Amino acid sequence: MGRIGVLTGGGDCPGLNAVIRGVVRKGVNAHGHEIVGFRYGWAGLLANEATPLTVESTSGILPRGGTILGTSRTNPYKEDGGSERVRETLEARGIDVLIPIGGEDTLGVARRLSDDGVPVVGVPKTIDNDLAGTDFTFGFQTAVQIATDAIDRLHTTAESHNRVIVVEVMGRHAGWIAAYAGMAGGADVILVPERPFDIEQVCDHVRRRHARGRTFSIVVVSEGAIPMDGDVWSQHAGTDAFGHQRLGGIAVQLEQEIERRTGFESRMTILGHVQRGGSPLAYDRVLGTRFGVAAVDAATAGDFGKMVALRGTEIEVVPLSAALDEPKLLDPAFFETAEVFFG
Ligand code: F6P
Repeated sequence: MGRIGVLTGGGDCPGLNAVIRGVVRKGVNAHGHEIVGFRYGWAGLLANEATPLTVESTSGILPRGGTILGTSRTNPYKEDGGSERVRETLEARGIDVLIPIGGEDTLGVARRLSDDGVPVVGVPKTIDNDLAGTDFTFGFQTAVQIATDAIDRLHTTAESHNRVIVVEVMGRHAGWIAAYAGMAGGADVILVPERPFDIEQVCDHVRRRHARGRTFSIVVVSEGAIPMDGDVWSQHAGTDAFGHQRLGGIAVQLEQEIERRTGFESRMTILGHVQRGGSPLAYDRVLGTRFGVAAVDAATAGDFGKMVALRGTEIEVVPLSAALDEPKLLDPAFFETAEVFFG
C-alpha cells in the first residue's frame, strides 16, 4: 500500500484514459494504493499541480478520447532547476512510484529520473507506433482506422472528379500509420520517412496507373516523409522543447508537383490531429487497460526503471532503454507487401 503518481505527457492519444482507469482500478481495489494524477504532463510536477484519482472520479472515462489529466510537451530538463522541482513535488506529495504514460520524450525524461534514483514504471504511448520494445502502442489502431475511413471517403470523390488526391497522415520518424492505412485503404502510392522518395518515381506510378485506364489515384504520405534530395517539405518553422521540428504540410507541395509534372488535376488533404481525437477503438481500450493494470502491478512489485510492453499477445515488463535506444521503424517486409499495389 502506497501512493502512486500518474501523468500523461506528449501528444494525446486515444486510450490514455483506459490506462489511467486501469492503474486506478487495480491500484486502489487490489493493492490499496492512493493514486495521484499530475496535470499536463511534466508541467504538473514542476508546478505541483495534481488531483486525486479515485475509482469514482475515473468511472466512465474508458471510451473517452484525450486524457482527463491534460498533457503537454514540457521538458523538465529544459527548465531552471527542473529535475529538482520534480523531486520536490514527489517528496511533498509522498509519491512512492511515478507512472509516466508517454512516448520517446516523456519516457526519456522518466529514464533520466530513474537513473537518478526516482522510482518509475513507464507506459509506452504514441499513435505513431514508433516506440521500440513493444510490438504495438495503444492509439495506433484508432489512428489507422480514422485514416482508413478518410481514404475511403477520398476515393469516391477522387474517382468522381478524375483527380489525384494526396492524403497526409501523421508519422514523424516512422511510416506505420501511412503503411497500415494506405494498405487498408488501397492506396496507389505510399510515402514514408524510412524510404526517401523520388518525386519522378511517384509521378511514374500515377502515370502508369492512368495509362492502364484508371482515372484517379490516391497517394498516402507520412508528414515526416522526405524527398531524395533531402529537403524537408514542412510548412512550419521551429522546434518543440524536445528539439523536434514541427511537421505538416508536405502534401501541399506534393499536390502541386504531381499536377505540374503529370498534368493530372490534384488535390490534397491533411488529416492532422483528427487522427488523435475521439473515442479509442476496442483494441486500444483493451491494450490501454492491460498496460495500466500491468504498470501498477510492476510499481507494486518494485520493478522500477522499466516499462510495460506488448510482446506477441502477452504484456511484459522490459527495461525503459528497450524503448528509447532506437525508434521502431517500419518493417521492410511490410512495406514491400504494400508496394505490390503501387501504380
Ligand atoms: O508524436 C505523435 C504526433 O502525433 C506526431 O505524429 C506528430 O508529428 C506530433 O505528434 C504532433 O504534435 P503536436 O500535437 O504537438 O502538434
